[in-house]
Amino acid sequence: MIKLGVNIDHVATLREARKEGVPDILRAAQAARKGGADGITVHLRQDRRHIQERDVHRLKEKSGLPLNLEMAAVEEIIEIALDIKPASVCMVPEKRKELTTEGGLDVAGNKEKIGKAVKKLQHKDIEISLFIDPDIKQIEAAAAVSADVVEIHTGSYANADPKKKKEHIEIISRSADIADKEGLIVNAGHGLDYKNVDAIRDLGKFREFNIGYSIICRAIFTGLERAVKEMKEKLS
Ligand code: PXP
Repeated sequence: MIKLGVNIDHVATLREARKEGVPDILRAAQAARKGGADGITVHLRQDRRHIQERDVHRLKEKSGLPLNLEMAAVEEIIEIALDIKPASVCMVPEKRKELTTEGGLDVAGNKEKIGKAVKKLQHKDIEISLFIDPDIKQIEAAAAVSADVVEIHTGSYANADPKKKKEHIEIISRSADIADKEGLIVNAGHGLDYKNVDAIRDLGKFREFNIGYSIICRAIFTGLERAVKEMKEKLS
């Protein structure tokens, strides 16, 4: 069964809209756990627009699930990760004005900087994943900097015109094969929802999906536990 990492950034987005402490991020993690989540993912952005440092501490200590910390490879956040020691870190590109992570990380163009960050974090036994586009050059670079995992960006597939979806699935499938041959663990995420996840699941090439927005949107109507359970059922 493919593992499900539930991204709960948008619980914090709602909380930050009023800054009154609700909805509680830990309660969200516990509901996700009851629904069958295998892990919790949060993105500690440099602008702190949703997740705050104390959220990451609380989730690590109290959620009862492995924590995957999404972050930019910048000194300030690397230091926080070294202190909190999540089970895994997923390095992502980060732009101040984007609404969500837009593209994959340019590992090939930043091998030295990313390689150093990978080493530093691995030294603390943190599993390192790099969020990359389904692109051979980036996969080879991820292997060259000794990442443990690549998370293949599925956003282009999710947003593609229905007639072009097949093409994107083939690219993702080939990329997963190449990553596997390079000895990398292969995850996927971004833009996956209750409909489009089927085709990626059916490839049978991934250890884990990281899914946030579609689950949190459904949770407004069903509750988070059930929304997670329904996604989990799709992955079995
Ligand atoms: N994986 C990564 C690396 C991401 O940055 C995000 C978005 O925060 C996700 C997965 C989840 O994407 P979505 O919210 O579209 O499911």
